[in-house]
Amino acid sequence: MNKRKLQLSLISTLFFILHTFAAPADSQHSLVVRSTESSDDKETGKEDNSPEILPTVPRIYQMHIQSNVRNRFANTTVVSKVRNLAHKSQEATFSIVLPETAFISGFIMEVDGKNYTAYVKEKEEAKRDYDQAVQSGQGAAHVAVSARDSNRFTVSVNVEPETKAAFYLTYEELLKRQDGHYEQIINIHPGQPVKDLGVEVVIKETRKIKNLKAPPLRSGNEIGNENSELDPRADIEIVNDKTAIVRFRPNVERQKQIAHLLGTDENEGLAGQFVIQYDVERDPQGGEVLIQDGYFVHFFAPTDLAPLPKHVVFVLDTSSSMHGQKIQQLKEAMDKILGELHEHDLFSLVEFNTNVKVWDLNNPAASVWYPSETGWTGYDEDRETDFEKYTFPNAYLASSDNIKKAKHTVSEFRPTAATDIYTALRVGLHLVELARTHKSDEVDRQPILVFLTDGDPTVGLRSAEKITNKISEFNAEARKSPIFALSFGRGADKSFLQKLAIRNSGFAKHIYEASDAALQLQDFYRQISSPLLANVNFKYEPSVTSLTKTEFPIHFGGSELVVCGFYSKHYI
Ligand SMILES: *[C@@H]1O[C@H](CO)[C@@H](O)[C@H](O)[C@H]1NC(C)=O
Ligand SMILES: *[C@@H]1O[C@H](CO)[C@@H](O)[C@H](O)[C@H]1NC(C)=O
Repeated sequence: MNKRKLQLSLISTLFFILHTFAAPADSQHSLVVRSTESSDDKETGKEDNSPEILPTVPRIYQMHIQSNVRNRFANTTVVSKVRNLAHKSQEATFSIVLPETAFISGFIMEVDGKNYTAYVKEKEEAKRDYDQAVQSGQGAAHVAVSARDSNRFTVSVNVEPETKAAFYLTYEELLKRQDGHYEQIINIHPGQPVKDLGVEVVIKETRKIKNLKAPPLRSGNEIGNENSELDPRADIEIVNDKTAIVRFRPNVERQKQIAHLLGTDENEGLAGQFVIQYDVERDPQGGEVLIQDGYFVHFFAPTDLAPLPKHVVFVLDTSSSMHGQKIQQLKEAMDKILGELHEHDLFSLVEFNTNVKVWDLNNPAASVWYPSETGWTGYDEDRETDFEKYTFPNAYLASSDNIKKAKHTVSEFRPTAATDIYTALRVGLHLVELARTHKSDEVDRQPILVFLTDGDPTVGLRSAEKITNKISEFNAEARKSPIFALSFGRGADKSFLQKLAIRNSGFAKHIYEASDAALQLQDFYRQISSPLLANVNFKYEPSVTSLTKTEFPIHFGGSELVVCGFYSKHYI
């Protein structure tokens, strides 16, 4: 029995990882599910949440969210039961917000005592539907509260007078380790206060669980101010050192109170995120292998390592669209981020719009714009620029004096002109190369390129696909520098930046345009500020097959590397 459970969770962990690595950039929007009984009247995006219609919406009398976490793999089922008390039929809408990395594994609708099972559409087809829905304005703005880094699943059904309906949705996700803990986020927003509302999370690990907690509820939209009044007052039951159960059961009064504290409408009930964090004990080498029927998952998160010295190249967009709040927030964030560099780190400061400037901190007035002030004629598809011909300032040691100068320089940034992403990235990578070949000391440093933009490429090379290909090829030839891409605000092409980052061993993060943007930027930087290992390469016996990615150019403190495979000898 237990063995069977472990197997299920292990195998699904494996498939999840395969799935994630196989289609990293495009997989996020393929979560469109339709009922098998689907007909045209079952639209997924009707605007029916306005207050004057609300009282005639069927009552949700029960919402139970049950999550089973086995070895960081979470299997969550949401059950929502509604009753139509009116004398005419009404439309019941079931809407769930899922973490971006979760996938739906089951959906059942029970109407009139009959069960209808949904199927997940093929990815292409689903994506098309999704795009069409987005274009026609459906899906968006359907439920008042939205959450960041998430997808929404919505389905509506007609409920006959004085009858009931129920929705059963199961989704699965691999919890990611970040900042030294695994975090599970459960979005709750039934759209109305619910008499019987409960969340239960059962965590079972093969290692000792530690630091288990349920931090204050979040809106899912702003970070920073953890309000103690939003303590979920969850009931944490430690069954044994490897098993725990967390329960959260706010009554209607408390749901309204939470809604109020989160700044949403009390009549729409609780709309926020219930969060669980924990870590597991590990041995100092940080390795852990789970094996079941030949499949294995290898988790690796060493603890006792000092951070590597690094060379951070900041490539920052100051095109005219950054004008206003965004540039302010960028300045605020850079002020903090620069202050967090270690004294053995190097950094370079690149500003770009139509032109690209590598700041010379010792002589700011002498810093030139490429290509406009260098005699170079600009981007030419047939002729790559030979950057060796130009002189660039060296990277700077993160001494307090240099940091002070850099902060001052950033504080003077003035947004102007268009966005030449390709040249900016090429110059950034050239600086990585320069710092590596013209070292002033014997220290090997891990390069990290942090790229921030709020827009599309509008001058120079303008095809996102070509930029991605050319930059990735160029970066692969030289020693790789991971590229971490930050898309800022609504105009940024998120999927382009995601592909660019993933192909260059980094990751992309979207910075939402809101009052906490500076905090989001710092939060992002914290995740990449402590590289612990470079060029990690996992080697297994030849009998191991079906391996997922085994080479990781960089491993950051607080995170975890995961490799899966099949060990045939063990199986036979
Ligand atoms: C997830 O939970 C559902 C419902 O409890 C169950 O049917 C399914 O087998 C579970 N999946 C995994 C991978 O454990
Ligand atoms: C419909 O499916 C749910 C979830 O599996 C189950 O709990 C319920 O009893 C089923 N109802 C009927 C009528 O089969």
